[in-house]
Amino acid sequence: MSLLLSLILALKLLDNYCHTSYPRLAFYPPPLTNEYLDRIKEGAVVADVGCGIGYLTYILSGKVGDTGKVYAVDINESVLHFVDVVKKKEGLKNITTIKSKPDDICLPPNSCDQIWLVGTIHILDSKINYSFINSCYSALKKNGFLIVVEWRLSSIIEPTMEIARKIGFRRIEKETEFDPLGRETDRYVEIYQKK
Ligand SMILES: C[S@@+](CC[C@H](N)C(=O)[O-])C[C@H]1O[C@@H](n2cnc3c(N)ncnc32)[C@H](O)[C@@H]1O
Repeated sequence: MSLLLSLILALKLLDNYCHTSYPRLAFYPPPLTNEYLDRIKEGAVVADVGCGIGYLTYILSGKVGDTGKVYAVDINESVLHFVDVVKKKEGLKNITTIKSKPDDICLPPNSCDQIWLVGTIHILDSKINYSFINSCYSALKKNGFLIVVEWRLSSIIEPTMEIARKIGFRRIEKETEFDPLGRETDRYVEIYQKK
């Protein structure tokens, strides 16, 4: 009985979620994120690494179209299961879920036009951040973009992005959000490009 109840609750949650995920875009600091979403062409291959329950994955799915591909990557199997259920329910055939390793995003080399890390860097362990970023570098095509969105201050972020620059990423843009009093907040977007 409790299993049935849990199933009904999960389905209800999923149903609500499918109708409320898109407004989440409003939380990403504009306009850089919108600019890079708009750059995505039909047929592109993009990855949402640390996808969680896929807020961004479904938006990317709409952008790449039928001929494109979205890798929804996470180390947590249960969130990937959630994405798979949404994928099936909504018929989003261009999404592929990937169970990655903490230090390796497990994507084919030179496969992605864009890799999005939304709220992922701040929870990385400093022992694995080099290999993690290196695997992002390897998965991107030449001139591909790494898009980093963060909204929580963490001491891991700056050293990790320093590693990214050492590995060979070129930082091309950074946008910080300001609060109504003009103070810098923890939310920002950084764009890197694979040289
Ligand atoms: C704060 S959540 C952000 C989820 C989603 N990007 C969003 O904006 O709602 C961070 C996600 O990153 C995943 N994660 C943590 N470390 C990871 C790693 N090394 N590789 C891939 N995913 C990771 C977690 O399992 C979690 O789902």
